[in-house]
Amino acid sequence: MFQLGSLVVLCGLLIGTSDSLLGDLGNVVKDLDIGNAVKDLDVGNVNLDVGSLQKTTDWALAKNNILGALNALDLSKLNPFSSQNGYGLRINKLSFLNLQAEPSSNLQGINLKLPLVLDASVTLPIIGSMVDVSISLDLATSLGVQTDAKTGLPTLSIGQCSSDTDNISISLLGRRSTLINRLLDGVSSLLTKSVSSLMQNQICPVIEFIFSHLNVNLTQDLLSNLQLPVSL
Ligand SMILES: *[C@@H]1O[C@H](CO)[C@@H](O)[C@H](O)[C@H]1NC(C)=O
Ligand SMILES: *[C@@H]1O[C@H](CO)[C@@H](O)[C@H](O)[C@H]1NC(C)=O
Repeated sequence: MFQLGSLVVLCGLLIGTSDSLLGDLGNVVKDLDIGNAVKDLDVGNVNLDVGSLQKTTDWALAKNNILGALNALDLSKLNPFSSQNGYGLRINKLSFLNLQAEPSSNLQGINLKLPLVLDASVTLPIIGSMVDVSISLDLATSLGVQTDAKTGLPTLSIGQCSSDTDNISISLLGRRSTLINRLLDGVSSLLTKSVSSLMQNQICPVIEFIFSHLNVNLTQDLLSNLQLPVSL
């Protein structure tokens, strides 16, 4: 009875003060600098069949190979993010759903889009409560083929990899509560920033590493196929 009573009091307190809690949270979130919190992932740990990726001129095969390596990333090598202020982010599952290729707007290169879903545990500042969320976003990069000035041979160029946070979606997994929802809303921009930083610092180098092994002939074929005008 006593425990139930104190729980009711605690809940009342939390609900009653949720506006000031949100205010405190806002202040904590404003002061958090996540810039240097994420370290690089060692690309040496990426489980990629480099030989077959270098040899193949079959895009479907290459795509499978790439998605396989990305989906097999060892998440324990991804640094969980935590701060003294009690905000924490841990990635539990990372699923790359697809690898889409389309011609760049000037038709000189290939834009690649990698939609992904990550399941993460977020520790909320102030209340220290942990919630599970599912976050969807796209990673984007590009490929081009250039001619080496010295050898005259085509070489692959890889554009910058970035996360498209304009289209990020964050949803709560499991039990929902109005308070948790509001607190999560309060940290959504911080969450977006930390996920983006994690992608940029840890996943993008992996993506660049993997794509650097693509066969230049495959890239050239893909480029010419994409450049063909779509008829009918
Ligand atoms: C955002 O994501 C949705 C669902 O994946 C997609 O249909 C839409 O085109 C995306 N919008 C932008 C601006 O990328
Ligand atoms: C690309 O094709 C050319 C001509 O067929 C060939 O000489 C070259 O070895 C190929 N490059 C790769 C990386 O397979």
